[in-house]
Amino acid sequence: MARRLAAAGWRLGLAARRLPKLEALASELGTGTVIRAIDVASSERARVELASLLEALGGADLIVLSAGTGELNPDLQWGPDRQTIDVNVTGFAALAQFAIDHFLQRGRGHLVGISSVARFRGSGDAAAYSASKAFVSTYLDGLRDKVRASKLPIAVTEACPGFVDTAMMKADKPFWVATPDRAAACIHSAIRRRAKHAFVTRRWALVGWALRLLPA
Ligand SMILES: NC(=O)c1ccc[n+]([C@@H]2O[C@H](COP(=O)([O-])OP(=O)(O)OC[C@H]3O[C@@H](n4cnc5c(N)ncnc54)[C@H](OP(=O)(O)O)[C@@H]3O)[C@@H](O)[C@H]2O)c1
Repeated sequence: MARRLAAAGWRLGLAARRLPKLEALASELGTGTVIRAIDVASSERARVELASLLEALGGADLIVLSAGTGELNPDLQWGPDRQTIDVNVTGFAALAQFAIDHFLQRGRGHLVGISSVARFRGSGDAAAYSASKAFVSTYLDGLRDKVRASKLPIAVTEACPGFVDTAMMKADKPFWVATPDRAAACIHSAIRRRAKHAFVTRRWALVGWALRLLPA
């Protein structure tokens, strides 16, 4: 995603926990890229770090919240579920709210959140993950509704990936697996269109509809 946005002319701020990976990417992308180590599980600290990142950039017109975690947890251990909720729910909401405040003050902007097709149905193997992504999607809907009232040019995009070939992909028998670059191309297209919702890739819309229609 970062490589695609940089190639399209965006100046980037990058954040995650592993600073050496960010440093390597920043040096590849060239001068002007700003990096910060942010652990979104520490939501108060993460807001301070995001403020510092935005200040270093002189503000941002686009914020993509991609950080996420989730483990298969069929035995319902509390530790993994709590980590998922800390990152995907509390951390996400803390930064999404901060981003929207930033855009309201700036008078424009675009927030992108990465949800999942898992949001359409509770999963017995990953109850916290599927519920956390339902939260992400509904929270983004709420933020979109809020900014609509402002009449400012602020867009909110929910990206809904199916399977993408990254460390996050935990399924036994994944199908329709997208490469990270294909997923990034899909999300980049949604950003250019300022789409409200985007399946990644588009055929995952079929699975989204099917999961909504199946009886609970
Ligand atoms: N891969 C899939 O099949 C799939 C499907 C549907 C949705 N998604 C969603 O897509 C998003 C991106 O995941 P991915 O597939 O790109 O997986 P990934 O390659 O494992 O990337 C996860 C990213 O989140 C960051 N991250 C994790 N915990 C963090 C924390 N506490 N604080 C800050 N950053 C954190 C990681 O960086 P650090 O480890 O350096 O912090 C990494 O950059 C996630 O929200 C995921 O739920 C993925």
